[in-house]
Order: sequence, then structure tokens, then C-alpha cells
Amino acid sequence: MKKIILTGDRPTGNLHIGHYVGSIANRLKLQKENDFEKFYIMIADTQALTDNADKVDKVKNNVIQVAIDYLSAGIDPEKVTIFIQSQVPELAEMTMYFMNLVTVARLNRNPTIKEELKMREFGGNSMPVGFMCYPISQASDILAFNATTIPVGEDQLPMLEQAREISRAFNSTYGSKILVEPQALLPESKSQARLVGLDGKLKMSKSAGNCIFLKDSEAEVKQKIMSAYTDPNHIKVSDPGKVEGNVVFEYLDAFATDESFKKYLPEYKNLDELKAHYRKGGLGDVKIKLFLNNVLQEILKPIREKRAELEKNVDKIYEMLFENSRKAREVASQTMQKMKEAMGIDYTKFLKK
Ligand code: TRP
Repeated sequence: MKKIILTGDRPTGNLHIGHYVGSIANRLKLQKENDFEKFYIMIADTQALTDNADKVDKVKNNVIQVAIDYLSAGIDPEKVTIFIQSQVPELAEMTMYFMNLVTVARLNRNPTIKEELKMREFGGNSMPVGFMCYPISQASDILAFNATTIPVGEDQLPMLEQAREISRAFNSTYGSKILVEPQALLPESKSQARLVGLDGKLKMSKSAGNCIFLKDSEAEVKQKIMSAYTDPNHIKVSDPGKVEGNVVFEYLDAFATDESFKKYLPEYKNLDELKAHYRKGGLGDVKIKLFLNNVLQEILKPIREKRAELEKNVDKIYEMLFENSRKAREVASQTMQKMKEAMGIDYTKFLKK
């Protein structure tokens, strides 16, 4: 059986290099392997609105920004169906029926919901119902397309478990076999998991203001790298330095290859040698930062150039998104129809021919 791959992002900001290592690179790899029946990437605007009800403009503007980020990073819309969640209304319809299969207690046990309840001002009962139910809506995103394979980070595992439970609950409640149980596809290595931000404290995220964005200019990227957190006790070049928790080395772990050394820093064979020198002392931050800058600019330059090209014709991107959303909708509406038949609410059969 061939895979049906589905994944998505909330359009709340431009994509950054943390997304690149964490998910985009993996999607490009899957696209290249070409071992799937269908590959969907959803721009989850409906989900983004569950905690941005008053920020519709932000979400709306980021739908096109995220689409441009995907395309400029090399996602091929001929191979991958990139679509907008809100343009597939069957997903909302499906969510309504799935809500009957999940208890409030179960949602309260979802670690993401629990965490958000603690972290934000959603104290007491002030969490929007839509936000609380987004794990259910995410199950619809997945089950509507019979997706088998969901490439996501660890943080999404509770959502996947919820989707699997809903699939089983629907099938057993309505004596059907139509819904598939999806599997998560996790990043292969730890350095592909989420990247730390430039401050060295939090994970890279727009809200923490510690990102290098795919769309940043060459000068912005360089300026950000030069100000990245390294080792505060590595003051003189001759001081021994720490590699762990050092942002420059974290990024080199994720992006530098032996090839990068040949090209930009031939005095060292590989990252292990560079780390050993840094630990011993005698290697300055400016040198490692300039190396990282070369490595990252090489990856970001073609993405930036493609973006400039794409931005000349945004209409075409909207057309692509609508066409792909229409295709996605056809599939979701078939699943919805089968679900109604399984539930016994396909009233059209009572119509006289
Ligand atoms: N919740 C995901 C995130 O925040 C985005 C998302 C929405 C998603 N629907 C999905 C991911 C379906 C995988 C499958 O990143």
C-alpha cells in the first residue's frame, strides 16, 4: 500500500530555519523519494484562528507568506497538494461529528491543551472552546484524506494519538471500516528536532523574537549570526569554550557538512575537529560565526532568489492554492459522504427517484 502523506503548519508567521531543519528539509526529502500516492500540505488557517480570533488579518496575510515560503524552499505544487484548511468546509463538518466521540476529560488530558492552560492567561474557564477542541479538528484534517503518514515533530504526538483514537471510535461506534489509523513520521535525528533560538534560551519561534527567517536578507542573516549567543565565559580567543548550549555549534550541527569545511574552512576536516579546538581554547567566536554565515547563506540564497521571483506573481500562487483546495475538497467530501452513510444520515436515499 502506498503512503498518503499529510502535514501542515499554522499560518501565524513566516517560516524560519527552525522549520527548515525540523520539517521542510524532511518534506523535501519525501518529495524527492516520491514514494507516495498523495502528499498534502495544509495551511491550517482555521486552526490558527482558534487562538487568534481577533487577529484575522495576521492569519490571512500569513497564508500567502507560508505558501511562498514553501514554494521558495522547493516544495513542488505539481507533486504536493498545498491547500488552505478553511477552503475545505467538510473538515469543519466532520469535526462536529467527531466531537461526539471525545469527552471533555480526554481533551483536558491532552498535554498541549494542559500546557497552554498553564502558560497563557487561559486561566479558569477562559480558553476558547474552539482552541480546546483543535485536537479534534486536527483529527479531521488527517482522517478526511485517509492519511497514513504524518510527518511531524514530537510535540504533535498527542494530536496524532487523538486522531487514532477518533478513527477507532468512529469505526467501532458506526460499524465501519472507512477511517484509517494514521502513523506519525518523526524526524530522524535530534538535530532535526526543533532548533534553539538565537538567544540560546528558548526554541526558535516568532513569538520569542529569536529567529532567522527564510526570507531574511543576506545582511540580516549575517547581523543575526554575529549577535548569536555563544559561551559567555569564552571571553578571550585563548579561553577554552563550551560547545554545548552554544548556538553557533547547535546550528553547525544542523547545517554544516564535511563539504562545508572543504569549501569555507579547509583548515579543519569536520565539525568534530572544530569543536575540539574550541573546547581547548584558541578559536575565536568571530571565526566560527563567519563560517556559520557562509554555510547558512549557501542554503538561504537560492530560497531568497526564488522568493523574489515568486513575489512578482502572487496571483498565480493564489490560483494554485484555490485549485489545490478544490482537489482536496473533493477527497474530503467523499470521506464525509461515506461517514454519513456509515452513521445512517445520508437522507438522500429517501428521495423518490
Ligand atoms: N498543529 C500543527 C502545528 O501546530 C499544524 C497542523 C494542523 C497539522 N493540522 C495538521 C499537522 C494536520 C499535521 C497534520 O504545527
